[in-house]
Amino acid sequence: AESDWRTANSQSMKDTFSKENGYDLIFDDAQQKQENQITAIRNFIQQEVDYIVLAPVTESGWDPVLKEAKDADIPVIIVDRMVDVSDDSLYTAWVGSDFKLEGEKACAWLKAYTEAKGMKEVNIVDIQGTIGASAQIGRTEALNEAVKSNGWNLLAQQTGEFTQAKGQEVMESMLKQYKNINVVYCENDNEAFGAINAIEAAGKKVGPDGDILVMSFDTTKAGITDTLSGKIILNTECNPLHGPRVEEIIKKLEANEKVDKKAYVDEGIFAHSDDVTTVKAGDKDFDVTKVTKDVIDKRAY
Ligand code: AHR
Repeated sequence: AESDWRTANSQSMKDTFSKENGYDLIFDDAQQKQENQITAIRNFIQQEVDYIVLAPVTESGWDPVLKEAKDADIPVIIVDRMVDVSDDSLYTAWVGSDFKLEGEKACAWLKAYTEAKGMKEVNIVDIQGTIGASAQIGRTEALNEAVKSNGWNLLAQQTGEFTQAKGQEVMESMLKQYKNINVVYCENDNEAFGAINAIEAAGKKVGPDGDILVMSFDTTKAGITDTLSGKIILNTECNPLHGPRVEEIIKKLEANEKVDKKAYVDEGIFAHSDDVTTVKAGDKDFDVTKVTKDVIDKRAY
């Protein structure tokens, strides 16, 4: 199944900023293209909106259009991924995920799991997200560091553009090139679904008793369902429900209260088994939740 991370993210905005809640939301789906996002922001400025909420596709290239919003006195609230700007005053506040920490948690789990299972070699491939997106930058960086410090064998690293189709295509070519892959680090659920299809089509088995362990990020309902079955051995959460968080920021701004410039959301770690119950990442301990039907039923997305 195609992951519904993005749907959950947009729905959260639409539900929060509804007419019934007293808002007039102009929603623009930029189709994962920065140029469309820039055009949309310019349109919003022309329409003299009160606030602009931006979920940036990639980090760079935002200075000019954010300057235009600032000059027009329109606060910009960034959600989910980050922008890399020369001047922090070009946006009002950011709320989103610590993508590097997500990657660190996943890698700490892999280290503990492979040790617990006595896996002598970790021959890993990385299906990266959209290059230049914070979610890709952080998760890739964490993996690269773990590869170095743990002596893992990183066979290949290529973007799957956060989509199932591309994830499948990339996995197919990696499987042709490398016969000894035993771990796939997919940088989101969509890519994991594609990778699983490719692995199974190649006659290999995914899962704890199979040939290849598939790791993923997001923990959407579809993703975590594959974690219950073991097809995705570990799923590190990336929380998409930013609507209420943005509303809280806007309410504070309306009341002339100070808002946090940057706020990270708390995110969990969901594993197929209870072989590893806690991991240390960024100097903190995090519990690992073993996925059960009950855990899935209780999830909000
Ligand atoms: O920025 C959020 C990440 O990007 C999510 O992991 C993913 O599904 C999305 O495309």
